[in-house]
Amino acid sequence: MKKKVLVFFLLAMCLTGFALASTVSLPADSYKDTFPDQYQSYLRNAENDENYDYVQAHPQIAVLYEGFGFAHSYFSARGHEYTLEDVKNIGRPHPLANCLTCKSGDYTAMVNEMGIEAYKLPFDETFAELKGGISCFNCHGEEPGVLQVTHQYLKDAVGEDSGVNPAILACAQCHVEYYFPADTKATVLPYEGLENATPEMIYAYFDQLGFSDFVNPRTGTNMIKVQHPEFETYTGAGSVHKSTHSCADCHMGKAVNEAGQSFSSHYLTSPLKNPAVRDSCVQCHADLDEFVKGIQDRTEERTYLIADKLVDLTNALADKVAAGATDEELAQLRALNREAQFYWDFVFVENSEGAHNSKLSTACLDKAELLVDQALELVKQ
Ligand code: HEC
Ligand code: HEC
Ligand code: HEC
Ligand code: HEC
Repeated sequence: MKKKVLVFFLLAMCLTGFALASTVSLPADSYKDTFPDQYQSYLRNAENDENYDYVQAHPQIAVLYEGFGFAHSYFSARGHEYTLEDVKNIGRPHPLANCLTCKSGDYTAMVNEMGIEAYKLPFDETFAELKGGISCFNCHGEEPGVLQVTHQYLKDAVGEDSGVNPAILACAQCHVEYYFPADTKATVLPYEGLENATPEMIYAYFDQLGFSDFVNPRTGTNMIKVQHPEFETYTGAGSVHKSTHSCADCHMGKAVNEAGQSFSSHYLTSPLKNPAVRDSCVQCHADLDEFVKGIQDRTEERTYLIADKLVDLTNALADKVAAGATDEELAQLRALNREAQFYWDFVFVENSEGAHNSKLSTACLDKAELLVDQALELVKQ
């Protein structure tokens, strides 16, 4: 390319850049006439309104997340319609706007406009400025119909040309593991390159940084809290369907409007509950419900069994601390506690309960159990 042409090209990119940079989030209802099918199905996300209290149902949580807000306030996820209501009422302290990263298209547009400074804005004032929750903007920018990654941290983590199906990346903008570095408080994913998005590499990444989300006040262990790693689990080694099915294939599916035209349903739901999706599965899974339930029951049973062991370990370790053991004496036990709970959490907080990649979930639980058993032996000495 000649120099002059290059300069012109760069100038043109800068100019169009202003138009293309996704910084304007129009309310979803501005598309109700242009894309009525997608809009109406998007509204159906309000139907998924069940909000289950994990802390009440599972007393282990209060012990395992002690020292962190999740120990007393931890509800199951529900439909996209409820993100703002839920983040507001969650009962966990959130001084900064970074908690809004996955809750609102308006906030995403604000981050794109201001840069990472937007993550440090005060929560309450920023919240008051938002007009709506997750919107067309999050997945399409200003062009509904074209899939666009609007959350920059995902591009930073997997690269601009990751080769991952755009209908997987759309969801990976939020259904991922993330953390807030102590200095910037920005939303960051703990890996560079998809090949490093494995539980093992993520753990190594946090260890190298010396990162922890909270310190358990009774044991003094620096803990990591994993958050909904659906993307890393589904695209991880051992995933059966990752090259044939995007998240949208199983959670959106095609619907047909009154005029007989096909469109992508924007009602995000379980493939078991969506007849249009189910019909495409039964040729291979004659009893899809039984098959999925089997995987989930096995995964859940082991998850709670290991949670009980982690509770025993936490209490035994706390007893040692109370009895005056030194940091040096406790170092190995704390290291085992931190790592065991990380691998357990990677499965516990993943929303499919093993269905996305039972091999990966099983491998994590195996690791967690091995480590917690080792620590329980050691703590007796
Ligand atoms: C959570 C992400 C997400 C949100 C939010 C979202 N979409 Fe989509 N949209 C998708 C995906 C994924 C596809 C493509 C599905 C595929 O390729 O299988 C799509 C496809 C489309 C298409 C292409 C035609 C079709 O039906 O396949 C249109 C038009 C569209 N969306 C409009 C909208 C509008 C309007 C809104 C807001 C009311 C919206 N979308 C919100 C993810 C989203
Ligand atoms: C902008 C962030 C964001 C994007 C993008 C996003 N999600 Fe979500 N999703 C969330 C949040 C946050 C919740 C939990 C909402 C609540 O509980 O208030 C959620 C909840 C859900 C639920 C309901 C979970 C339950 O247990 O009932 C499903 C299903 C879901 N998302 C699927 C998807 C799929 C599929 C995609 C991609 C097409 C996607 N999401 C893209 C943030 C996002
Ligand atoms: C091959 C099909 C398939 C694909 C592809 C898939 N999922 Fe799932 N997903 C499932 C099944 C099955 C469940 C469990 C549903 C149930 O319990 O009813 C599930 C559960 C979920 C849940 C919990 C909500 C619910 O309804 O139970 C979320 C959130 C979710 N998946 C997000 C994703 C995301 C994000 C991706 C892409 C990274 C993805 N899924 C890819 C099959 C799939
Ligand atoms: C062409 C055949 C085929 C189709 C179509 C198909 N599957 Fe599968 N699926 C398989 C095979 C084979 C396995 C691995 C079976 C096993 O591990 O016992 C599998 C495994 C799974 C698993 C468990 C994954 C794991 O890691 O254990 C889930 C969940 C699943 N499929 C859901 C679906 C859903 C939902 C659909 C429809 C959208 C679907 N499948 C369509 C063949 C298919």
